[in-house]
Amino acid sequence: MKLIDKYYRYIRPFRFLYGGVKDTVSHAQSSKRAEEWKAKGYQGAKLDVCGGRNPFNRNEFLNVDVVDFPQVDLVFDVTKRFPIPDKVIVEIISLATLEHLRAPHVDHVLHEFYRVMAPGSRVRISTPDIEAIAQGVIDGDDLGILNQHLFGKFKSDDTEDLDLHKSMFPAETMCQMLEDIGFENAKRIPMDIGMHDANYNYLVEAYKPV
Ligand SMILES: C[S@@+](CC[C@H](N)C(=O)[O-])C[C@H]1O[C@@H](n2cnc3c(N)ncnc32)[C@H](O)[C@@H]1O
Repeated sequence: MKLIDKYYRYIRPFRFLYGGVKDTVSHAQSSKRAEEWKAKGYQGAKLDVCGGRNPFNRNEFLNVDVVDFPQVDLVFDVTKRFPIPDKVIVEIISLATLEHLRAPHVDHVLHEFYRVMAPGSRVRISTPDIEAIAQGVIDGDDLGILNQHLFGKFKSDDTEDLDLHKSMFPAETMCQMLEDIGFENAKRIPMDIGMHDANYNYLVEAYKPV
């Protein structure tokens, strides 16, 4: 028996302390990373736009979110101008986020992606697949899962506005929106990021022209 298992029943009541310390360390690391990148003008940074509590590849990507969770590096509201200069970001990923914004804000965010991205850089976007959800309804799939993808956190009566879904676009429409802004080679790619249900979410990529 491992030592930790032997004494676990004594340690258990103090687990919350471990959580608190972990959050404090995480928060301090995020603030330090954010300061370092800010000093460099974000030149060469990669962004996980709205990574929130569930960031993507924290070693490589700076986690942006409007809520100051311990894991968040840059705190700002993406519906406003990003506090980042033009053409400095070398990659963007945005997972399970755009559906939380109203259509004009989605348009704003995609334009901001284009503005801050360096020529030749890639953006990947994953969001619920409204066509797969509609097919799921016709096929009689699990209503709980379908509701969750359509509406976000629909089960709780104290859900915050931020947690609800407000807009969705078929993958082809999303690609067209990206190309209309100036991105090129916008296309649907396999949902291989290992996060979120591949049956009801799509992944698209596009490039800023060189
Ligand atoms: C469903 S979570 C997605 C988290 C993570 N990307 C993932 O794939 O699980 C949506 C995130 O968007 C953030 N968010 C919603 N509206 C935002 C806004 N206007 N500006 C910045 N972040 C926002 C929320 O705080 C939340 O962390």
